[in-house]
Amino acid sequence: MKTFYIETFGCQMNAHDSEKVIGTLVSKGYTQVETPEAAGLVLYNTCSIRDKAEQKVFNRLQNFKRDAGKGKVFGVLGCVAQQEGEKIFERAPHVSLVAGSASYTKLPQMLVQLEAGDRRVTGLSLDTDETFETPFTRRDNPHRAYITIIEGCDKSCAYCVVPFTRGPERSRTSASVIDEARRLSESGYTEIQLLGQNVNSYRDPSPADWDFATLLARVAEVPGIRRVRFITSHPRDFVKPIVEAIDANPVLCDHVHLPVQSGSNTVLSAMDRLYTRDEYLRRIEWLKAARRKIAITTDIIVGFPGETEADFNQTLALLDHVEYDSLFSFKYSPRPNTAALAMGDHVPEEEKTRRLMIVQERQRAIQIRRNSEAIGTVQQVLVEGRNQALGQWIGRTSQNRPLNFTGEAHNGDNLIGRYLDVRVTRAGPNSLVGESVM
Ligand code: 5AD
Ligand code: SF4
Repeated sequence: MKTFYIETFGCQMNAHDSEKVIGTLVSKGYTQVETPEAAGLVLYNTCSIRDKAEQKVFNRLQNFKRDAGKGKVFGVLGCVAQQEGEKIFERAPHVSLVAGSASYTKLPQMLVQLEAGDRRVTGLSLDTDETFETPFTRRDNPHRAYITIIEGCDKSCAYCVVPFTRGPERSRTSASVIDEARRLSESGYTEIQLLGQNVNSYRDPSPADWDFATLLARVAEVPGIRRVRFITSHPRDFVKPIVEAIDANPVLCDHVHLPVQSGSNTVLSAMDRLYTRDEYLRRIEWLKAARRKIAITTDIIVGFPGETEADFNQTLALLDHVEYDSLFSFKYSPRPNTAALAMGDHVPEEEKTRRLMIVQERQRAIQIRRNSEAIGTVQQVLVEGRNQALGQWIGRTSQNRPLNFTGEAHNGDNLIGRYLDVRVTRAGPNSLVGESVM
């Protein structure tokens, strides 16, 4: 029997790539198993955004070194595969397959080569205008489905490996995106997340020539779709028509993730982010002026080369000013093939740690305050699960906040997948608690 195990690291794009890889393997007669021990083919879909993420796969491979002798085949997919290429064979000689995401369209051929007993198979070319589309996607969640609309990245942020690991931007045709959304709706999905490293530089390659705002509006009109989300947006390409589209149709969720990275113009320029603090804040103003309250979240990097205390304080001031609903913060991690690698004046590790703690504490206080403002409001949630221990249903608001709730009237019902109104009764820094409203 042909069995495989896959473990996925990293971002939503990677998680969705794995869904497509799984579907492709199953369509070729493979069966997915729950443990590497039970599998003939062991795959790691890897992330290299920060050094820590990259080390994980090498630790995993190390653990299973001995098993290669027992006839197991090991494969490294994703960003570490693209970045390290054939060097992986030197570091982990028991690996047989190394393939970056831009080569997944060739996966069926690579599988045939492996089955034929080829010792080393690689897919490392970035020279492609193709996107990985497959009718066999194995979706994990029965209500929310991901659709990749654009792959790769044409920006060149000084810290980032993505343009290197995922190749140049290529968008799918609008017709194929709308088709997929329709099929998903027909098979019962009600929430769609549009994915891309940079969704708002989407450009329809077909003569229809839709931009991102148009695509967004049209996906939201697909009958049966009740929620549409999208990640990630680059501030430079975040134009007003996107906010207008959200304003015009509540199916487009009340949430935008707009990574700022730093509040200092000096650092933004060194990062080559292509916007100034003021230009970024103008986009925040558009969002805050929308008719519905749109949650805004962001990513922050602390300790970029040359970041002074004054630069860092500007990031803190920006957090106070915007009052994000939530954020992800990271210590700068030097990455191969990036411009920042050659920059001097590295911030010491302890100082990065200190700045990270300060950002997280500051943001925690903001979230406690912001979330407590929600107490007493009624919000619609999509029910995503059940926490037996707490006797609560797990829900998520349009603003992408977890809102867990109890509901006497629903005793005995299975609410998962339903949309319900919930009154917020309590608030913590990261989630809300409430009771369903009859
Ligand atoms: N070091 C630290 N954080 C990084 N990110 C991207 N590259 C790096 C790096 N080299 C962060 C950015 C990005 C998020 C996905 O990861 O904040 O928005
Ligand atoms: Fe990690 Fe970036 Fe690759 Fe996603 S695209 S897996 S975040 S390196």
